[in-house]
Amino acid sequence: MKLCVIPGDGIGHEVVPVAVGVLQAVLPGLQLVFADAGWEEFCRNGKALPERTLAAARECGAVFFGAVSSPMQLVEGYRSPIVQLRRELGCHANIRPTLSLPLASSRSGIDLIIVRENTEDLYVGDEQSDGEVAVAIKRITRKASLRVARSAFELARNAGRQRITIIHKANILPRTDGLFRDCAREVARDFPEIAVDEMLVDTAALRLAQAPESFDMLLAPNLYGDILSDLAAAFGGGLGLAPSLNLGVAAAIAEPVHGSAPDIAGQGIANPLAAILSAAMLLRVWWQRPELALRIEQAVRATLLDGIATPDVMSPGVTTQHLARVVIERIRQQQD
Ligand code: NAI
Ligand code: MG
Repeated sequence: MKLCVIPGDGIGHEVVPVAVGVLQAVLPGLQLVFADAGWEEFCRNGKALPERTLAAARECGAVFFGAVSSPMQLVEGYRSPIVQLRRELGCHANIRPTLSLPLASSRSGIDLIIVRENTEDLYVGDEQSDGEVAVAIKRITRKASLRVARSAFELARNAGRQRITIIHKANILPRTDGLFRDCAREVARDFPEIAVDEMLVDTAALRLAQAPESFDMLLAPNLYGDILSDLAAAFGGGLGLAPSLNLGVAAAIAEPVHGSAPDIAGQGIANPLAAILSAAMLLRVWWQRPELALRIEQAVRATLLDGIATPDVMSPGVTTQHLARVVIERIRQQQD
């Protein structure tokens, strides 16, 4: 088994080695290929996603991506490499689970998964402006909608989920969001054991805020999925604990939801659990090793139950390295 490891920028350098260490604790034979991408790499060599990084990612199939920084102002030639990496590797579905954790900042009774289309919608980045009128293209295709819906329903079937809620705004956007909704309904016919309903995105936001425990799985176009999953992440304890997996046919990219967190980078206090839980997703969904994923998740849960966590979610908090040592120690104990 091979893993392409791309730490990226900022706290990516701190949390990615921890997640990789956890993976090695359950998969001792794992081969690692390290590669660079992001703002620091752009400043060094003029490319945010070098060709050799892309080649390594393609060769491995499994990729672990930390986070990258993007400057607030437009910098000629720079675009966040994660968008390109997802596209180049054909990772068409972004899976973002939220689970209640034993933490004051987490809400109880929640176990939901948001599946977000990962390749189109407003994220095609086709914008025009003459200074008076600005236009952005919202592109929805039958092909990408069917593909992400199929991945969502297959995931639901494999995970024993009961219901998928299709998110859209087809009352205002009947052609684009209507197409997305209709494609999801079409795929649903092949999965009669999974209940399907649909909800307007604004209603879904309200319902997520009021009663997140009432959702099982949500299937959404790119932009709605991005926004709703950040909202959902708040219930799992915050960004420091929110994992994700970008899933394709030939590749998967594990990626914590958070960014490079320049405000805390270099201080040794970044929460590595989002990265560790992303590693568990890679094991469960991509490598089909759910029993190893479970061991990692149990170790994380036990560590939190003991009141050990970084300062973003616990006071007093421990360092990244301290938390990493405790989680790995717990995984080792499970083997005895
Ligand atoms: P961010 O996610 O980096 O940070 C938001 C806040 O959450 C900060 O206060 C940060 O300290 C905290 N935080 C995030 N992850 C944490 C962790 N693991 N442990 C403890 N605290 C954590 O988002 P922000 O500040 O909006 O963006 C910073 C940079 O990251 C920007 O350059 C942005 O473009 C980039 N970014 C990259 C992403 C990616 O690579 N996929 C995603 C989001 C942002
Ligand atoms: Mg986001």
